[in-house]
Amino acid sequence: MRHLRETLHPARVDRFSAVARRYRTLRDLDRATVRYVCGLVAEGRKPGSALRVLEVGSGTGRYIEAVIETATAEAGLVCQGVACDASRFMVSSGRTRDMSLDRVVALAEALPFRDGSFDALLSFNAVHHFQLDAFLAAAVRVLRPGGLLLVYTRTPEQNARTVWGRFFPGFAERETRLHGEQRLWAALAPYPQFRFARLEERPWRMCKTLRRLMEQAHGRCYSTFDFYTPAEFLAALRSFQSRIMLAYPDPFNITVRNDHLLLIAPRV
Ligand SMILES: C[S@@+](CC[C@H](N)C(=O)[O-])C[C@H]1O[C@@H](n2cnc3c(N)ncnc32)[C@H](O)[C@@H]1O
Repeated sequence: MRHLRETLHPARVDRFSAVARRYRTLRDLDRATVRYVCGLVAEGRKPGSALRVLEVGSGTGRYIEAVIETATAEAGLVCQGVACDASRFMVSSGRTRDMSLDRVVALAEALPFRDGSFDALLSFNAVHHFQLDAFLAAAVRVLRPGGLLLVYTRTPEQNARTVWGRFFPGFAERETRLHGEQRLWAALAPYPQFRFARLEERPWRMCKTLRRLMEQAHGRCYSTFDFYTPAEFLAALRSFQSRIMLAYPDPFNITVRNDHLLLIAPRV
């Protein structure tokens, strides 16, 4: 199955369409969390068991690909995945030869899948783009009872502690879409199906080079950069570079925090 219709809600996802081709090389992948997520979805399953897994807001599918590869290699699961995203450019930038993964253009708020059709629903770095309440309602519907919702995101506080939040002028202030823990709890409250949900911090320390940071910024690796005019962005970028050079004398050894939050919600 490979549905490549038009991009849905173009105004909301146009910027992702613009960066789709280079997205995979611009963003970092949290491999420790991929392994952790695999452990959670594999819990109680014997090698050889089948796992139907959906990623919503999957972009190019880099996370679900890593989850399927790891769950297959390390837990011996037989995975069938679906990567869905509102941007057809993101969906079509995914790997094509992957037999265990279907790619679908779809909205998080109106998932075009049968009730109870997935054992796990994952979402990485995307939930702040969704209408949260409608997404949770769709998640309850498409997960089977006993399935698992896993949402990986950053809180505003975590965002402020990243290298971008600390050194890129205006980055943390302009990013107002991220959900804090309270907002997530409030959104979950109407769903008794998620009453055993918990939030876990996923600490992530990374060693970067100045070159890599500048490459990511130039490539506009975060949609937050769209909240700058071109002139503001260039000025902020220059300031970012000088601040980093002051704070980190060795441009090959820039250790930064990139902590995230993982919502783990078994669907009762
Ligand atoms: C920051 S990217 C993350 C992509 C991917 N999960 C990753 O980490 O590489 C956010 C993605 O959410 C998608 N998106 C935004 N709003 C959406 C919606 N309402 N429904 C489905 N996808 C959406 C965008 O097209 C984009 O690909």
